Parts: sequence; structure tokens; C-alpha cells
Amino acid sequence: MTKKTYKIAVLPGDGTGPEVINEGVKVLKAVGEKENIDFSFTYFNWGGDNYLQTGEILPDNFKEQLQGFDAIYLGAIGHPDVKPGILEKGILLRLRFELDQYINLRPVKLYPNVDCPLKDKKPEDIDFVVVRENTEGLYAGAGGVLKKGTPDEVAIQESINTRKGVERCIRYAFEYTRKRNKKKKLTLCGKTNVLTYAFDLWERTYYEVAKEYPDIQTDYVHVDACCMWMVKNPEWFDVIVTDNMFGDIITDLGAMIQGGMGIAAGGNINPHGLSMFEPIGGSAPKYTGLGVINPIACILAGEMLLRFLNEDSAAKRIEDAVIKVVSTKLKSLSAGKMGYSTSEVGDLIVENL
Ligand code: IPM
Ligand code: MN
Repeated sequence: MTKKTYKIAVLPGDGTGPEVINEGVKVLKAVGEKENIDFSFTYFNWGGDNYLQTGEILPDNFKEQLQGFDAIYLGAIGHPDVKPGILEKGILLRLRFELDQYINLRPVKLYPNVDCPLKDKKPEDIDFVVVRENTEGLYAGAGGVLKKGTPDEVAIQESINTRKGVERCIRYAFEYTRKRNKKKKLTLCGKTNVLTYAFDLWERTYYEVAKEYPDIQTDYVHVDACCMWMVKNPEWFDVIVTDNMFGDIITDLGAMIQGGMGIAAGGNINPHGLSMFEPIGGSAPKYTGLGVINPIACILAGEMLLRFLNEDSAAKRIEDAVIKVVSTKLKSLSAGKMGYSTSEVGDLIVENL
């Protein structure tokens, strides 16, 4: 059999991003050897340091530069010396939007022996996936400001919801729920009692599309109640679909109930184009360079990357190794408390592949 080769664009980014990406790449290389998969990694230095040195946030031809890659592997974006918003909007959101990565897929899964802040909840109770719309809503950047800095200042930030954008997200979520084949339940998370334009569109679209998926159980929750149930009865959820802003918020809550930012990964997916996989925790500047950050979230982003490339057996090797290492080796998933350094954790995963 000829060896498969994948071209991966690596964006280590800021803060602890490069440290966790090192371990992620190490694990991908190792699993590639076992599964007869070849990866070629091309590094891009886009991020805060490059911006501070050159004034450039993303090169104008970034899309051309990314042509021909099979996936993007991202560390983290966000630099303590750069005003909040510049890099987040100029790099992370621009990549999501212009590459039309309209799905942000965020699994919430509690692994055995991982500390969970919810009393009495076990791995079988916490295993669901959030499908977050990733190109519209409040993130679209619509709005503006008038009379800034005066007592008459007006700030408007509009949530953009298009039929097309909402429908493709909901459709993806139904398909995903069917493929996942667990509880076969898709919960729409919205706010139909207050956001009566935006979530009316979401709700109508959801129930229309649902007719094509009679095998999937439908369900609706308001976002505030969703937060409550995620803490009280997370076992009710299988797949949740929601808009960009609500998805951002509930997936941080999701990360906490699965053991913290050290283990939470996500994928920015364009089902017909270039997708990008990342740990969801951010650049954690205070831990930069100390070798104490947990690379597991980034390693699991690598697992998601492999699933996206349909390399399920390689992906499963990574997940199994993570389960083994987090449940038998690591003292904690928090930075500095793992009992191992960042690169030692990467080595442990490699040994257990
Ligand atoms: C995330 C992050 C980003 C977001 C920030 C860094 C722009 O919080 O990936 O969830 O809000 O989407
Ligand atoms: Mn977030």
C-alpha cells in the first residue's frame, strides 16, 4: 500500500501555543509511523510576536499561502502586549470567516479518573458535543459606534443570522448526530423568549430540517436553562446546536465539566474546504516558556484533525493513549500540577500509542 501523505499547516501562534503544538506534532508524527501515514508540516509564524515586529497581522495573500493544505493545526492566538481584539479578530476570526469554517465542533467528554467539579457525575454522564455556528451571529462584526468617548456615545453590535448560515449549521448538526449514533438527540440551544427575530429563524429552520431526520429526537432549551442542565443533568445531552455567541459561552462551561482547559479541544470545520483544529483554552501567557502547560487539549485537537481526514484508527490510538495517560499518570490536568512537564506528557502519550 502506498503511504498516504497529508500536508498540515502549523500555526503555533502566541504564548503557550508553540509549546503545546510541539507536543501535538510529536504525537502526530509518532502515530503516523504506526499507521503508515506521512505528514508534512509547514510552519507559519502568524501571531503576536510577528505583529509586534512587522506590523502585519495576517499577510494579504494568506489564503494563497494556505492553498493545498489538508488541514490547519493551531496552537493559540492572543498576546499580552497586543490590545485585545486585534489578533483575535485579525487572525483567528479572519481565518474562521474567510476559510468559511462555519462549524465549530466542541466535544465535551469526561474521561475516567479525571477530576470533575460536578459531584457524582461519571464519564457516562458527560459525553456530548456542541455544534457552534462559527461565521455569523454577534461575531459578524456588524454595528458601529457614534460619538465615541462623549456622554452621547452609541454602541451597536448586531447579531447577523442568515437562513443559509443557520440552515447549513443545523443540517451539519443533524448529520453529525446521526453519524455519532449515540442517543440520537439534537438539542437546539437558543433564546426564543427574548431574541424573537434571530431564534425564530433558528427554530423554524431547525424544525423544518428535522423532518428529514425522523430518526433524530428533537429538543429545545433556552441558553440560560442549558447552562443549568449542563451542570445538573449533563447526561441529557447528546449533540447541542447553537449560535456563535452562545456556543462560545456554553463551551467554556463544557470545558470545565470535562476537566478544564487542559483537555478541551475543538475543530473549526469547513466540510468542503480547509479546516482548523485547536485547543480551546487560549494562549495562557503567564505560563509561557515554563514547560508546565498541559498539551493534552492540543493533542486531542490532533485527534480531531485525524478524524476529519477519516484516519479513524490513528485517531483512536491517540484518544486511547490520552485516556490511559490522564487516568493512570497525570496528577491533575492543570498547568504546573500534572506531575510532569509539557514535553514529558507528550512523551507519555507517544509511549502509549
Ligand atoms: C474561542 C475563543 C475565541 C472566540 C476568541 C479568542 C476570539 O474564545 O475560540 O472560543 O470567542 O471564539
Ligand atoms: Mn471561547
